[in-house]
Amino acid sequence: MSEKEQQPAQITLDGTTYSLPVIVGTENEKAIDITKLRDQTGYITLDSGYKNTGATTSAVTFLDGEEGILRYRGYPIEQLAEKSTFTEVSYLLVYGKLPTKTELDKFNSDISRHTLVHEDMKRFYEAYPSKAHPMGVVASVVCSLSTFYPENNKTKRTSAEIDLTVHRVLAKFPTIAAWAYKNSIGHPIMYPKNSHNYVENFLYMMFANPSEEYEIDPVVANALDKLLILHADHEQNCSASTVRMVGSSKANLYASIAAGTIALWGPLHGGANQEVIEMLDMIHEDGGNVDKWVEKAKDKNDSFRLMGFGHRVYKNFDPRAKIIKQACDQLLNKLGVHDDILEIAKKLEEVALRDPYFVERKLYPNVDFYSGIIYRAMGIPTEMFTVMFALGRLPGWIAQWKEMIANGEPIGRPRQIYVGEGLRDYVNIGDRV
Ligand code: ACO
Repeated sequence: MSEKEQQPAQITLDGTTYSLPVIVGTENEKAIDITKLRDQTGYITLDSGYKNTGATTSAVTFLDGEEGILRYRGYPIEQLAEKSTFTEVSYLLVYGKLPTKTELDKFNSDISRHTLVHEDMKRFYEAYPSKAHPMGVVASVVCSLSTFYPENNKTKRTSAEIDLTVHRVLAKFPTIAAWAYKNSIGHPIMYPKNSHNYVENFLYMMFANPSEEYEIDPVVANALDKLLILHADHEQNCSASTVRMVGSSKANLYASIAAGTIALWGPLHGGANQEVIEMLDMIHEDGGNVDKWVEKAKDKNDSFRLMGFGHRVYKNFDPRAKIIKQACDQLLNKLGVHDDILEIAKKLEEVALRDPYFVERKLYPNVDFYSGIIYRAMGIPTEMFTVMFALGRLPGWIAQWKEMIANGEPIGRPRQIYVGEGLRDYVNIGDRV
């Protein structure tokens, strides 16, 4: 990480001028360091939603929404998606460097050694209602890992102990997720098969069943591997910040990852691709008239928006959407699926890419639009979409947690400006009006 110091910022409060250090990041992003602001001035800053607040310096991911840049540890997402694999990207995020062949082989074998979950945990699944949302199940079971590996609760952990926990959580998450799905459809769970690689194993546990042969389609495995790479980290978003915040209290990694999973669950974060399919379903049920819904999306008096179009951070293009569109086209061609919903998606994409309303506002389909389509084509049910996102984001959360620990960051403790009642005396219940 290169942090260059430059001329301090000056702030004048109540007639006194204070100097505040300015921090400059590798890519010239600038921050006013207010760590000592309250001690020096008695003031705090107010920034609801933390949109202008850097909570940390980080060497994991660089993102420039205006330029459409996303890099993990300095490597462009385009190169990683084309040349790497999800486990190699996981290694890169977690350890900060690309592995040698020996390191990657060891990492893969360390992970595959831990794919089983404790037999006692199987009983948890029996207790959840069959209609339980898989995100709730997955987050709870991931948190429960901390009860099976209580040594992880130590506040001082050796790097070997941290590595073991990292391998365990990376290895068990796909099993936990696939079992949540199997449970939701009333099918027997499939145990992991460690001759498969990470992504194949997940597909196997999701789609194989004891009564018939299951062949893994390499095009499906490849598309999923790419999708997971594209989702592997996205710097200090809601879930990553949650993982760091929970971890900052020295809660164990399983609990921190479970908290991140819950943060991702919300429709404003990881739930967007589910909303894409729900919107497509709605258009389908309404008769499939795409033009009508495009017009509604353009109508300022109508609150309807095209889900999966536009992005909060990427204002010109989403580098991940470009990559995944290609994988999506390949997958649909290969699978040759005929699905009205996917047809509507393709029509919407065509209309939006040429309609001046969307072109002028740079409202291209985002990664959630394509990931929703891909997951549907793969046969993954809508409720599992956020789980798929969480599976992809796992190495990023781990990297963020590890970095927070390595930096010795203090417990997260924001402040507030109190705007409630001033001091008042307690009134006995009989005297209240
Ligand atoms: N459909 C129709 N019009 C849209 C859409 C859309 N999906 N998104 C933005 N617009 C229009 C707005 O009405 C506005 O038009 P105007 O300039 O004539 O007033 C203009 O485009 C800019 O919109 P903003 O709301 O200012 O854009 P912002 O960047 O704040 O919003 C957001 C981004 C929230 C993602 C928005 O595009 C949206 O609601 N998209 C649909 C939901 C979605 O896919 N969300 C997940 C995105 S992934 C993520 O952000 C993490």
